[in-house]
Amino acid sequence: MNLRNRTLSASGFHSPKRGIIDVLDDVLIEIDAEGVITALHRHGDPNYRTIRDARDASGELVTLPAGFYILPGFVDLHVHAPQYPQLGDALDVPLEVWLQKYTFPLEARYQDDAFARRIYRLLVDDLLANGTTTALYFATIHQEATRALVDICVEKGQRALIGKVAMDNTDECPDYYRDRSTEEALDGTRALIDYVRGHPQNGEGRVLPVVTPRFIPSCTDATLEGLGAVARECGCHVQTHCSESDWAQGYVLARHGMTDTNSLDRFGLLGRKTVLAHANFLTAKDMETVRARKAAVAHCPLSNAYFANAVFPLRAALEKGLHVGLGTDISGGPSASMLENARGAILASRMLQRGVDPNLPATARATFGPAQIDFRDAFHIATTGGGVALDLPVGQFTPGYQFDAVLIDADAEKGTVRLFEDRDKGERILQKIIYTASRPNIAATWVGGSKV
Ligand code: GUN
Ligand code: FE
Repeated sequence: MNLRNRTLSASGFHSPKRGIIDVLDDVLIEIDAEGVITALHRHGDPNYRTIRDARDASGELVTLPAGFYILPGFVDLHVHAPQYPQLGDALDVPLEVWLQKYTFPLEARYQDDAFARRIYRLLVDDLLANGTTTALYFATIHQEATRALVDICVEKGQRALIGKVAMDNTDECPDYYRDRSTEEALDGTRALIDYVRGHPQNGEGRVLPVVTPRFIPSCTDATLEGLGAVARECGCHVQTHCSESDWAQGYVLARHGMTDTNSLDRFGLLGRKTVLAHANFLTAKDMETVRARKAAVAHCPLSNAYFANAVFPLRAALEKGLHVGLGTDISGGPSASMLENARGAILASRMLQRGVDPNLPATARATFGPAQIDFRDAFHIATTGGGVALDLPVGQFTPGYQFDAVLIDADAEKGTVRLFEDRDKGERILQKIIYTASRPNIAATWVGGSKV
């Protein structure tokens, strides 16, 4: 059902502030013609009954049945759209081998527009069905295929930020898959920005363009510098990989004599609308720089287990006040589900805190320090954190924010959540949803108040 110009009567959860779950028990959410939340009335509010009766009488009230809960739609901060055919595959080698052996050959296939369209349609449908209402996408170097991804997101109604990947360094990019020159990388980036901004069906700006240097190793200095200038000129988002693995970090240290963070910063690529994927090996000073620039980290816990050989210190980053959201990193991470990645973030944090070597005594096993997060933090970064990272009004049910939401059917017979009335109440219901829900539990997804 379309919820524009409607008032929704529902229960659910959101987490505008880290560490706190706001339990929405039988609330009224008023949504305007643009899909923006204009008011939230709680059951005990003095005007609750009057408003409910008025909306009911005018036919604007939509009431959800018991057993259904709304959550803010998930914000996936790191997706490689062209890698979807590789999801759950090719996880056997390190990053630098994986790129050359599996990933570049796959991405090169997107010079075929028909192939691109087929894969991108499936991906966007699957992500929406998984409750991902906003996705920050890396596409490929190709203009036509990347435009197809824009068209498909516009058509299907997903909020999407999409970048034509820039990669022109002949030392690190194969001949069959790279921008031929700095000029081609920059012109292609500008052309995609123009295409997205001039798209006739993108009037609401649901799809946004992103300046996307793949990572420092893939790009020449001239391209990095040029992209910094494009980002400044167009004021758009920036995404790249940052300090992901020992190899990637070491490569930048050897080539530029500084960390990824410092190098990106001097090229003008570190700003309020920058999202750094992974960022596992940030130094304390790097973290300070990322915080000062108000840039964000896309935490990709599943991918990090395969390609980073390290755990991103999420809790430390959050406590330092960095903007952090959650990413699947399809296909570096083998799951397209933000719920599974939320669980991965919790699991990884606990292993980082306790240590993992069974040959060490318990007292000597923990070497890192406080790292543990819980379902509240995981839910927060999957929703509000992503919205803050992107500087977009999404991820929470607060007046002024877009009504981007997932409907969880906690009683779905084929689903994987089992609630027991006598024991599952309040935020414990959300905890069970985070830990056990799966696609059959996702009954509907809305973006900007429209069902998608
Ligand atoms: N670094 C450069 N390219 C990639 C990519 O496609 N995936 C991941 N995880 N890291 C990268
Ligand atoms: Fe990635």
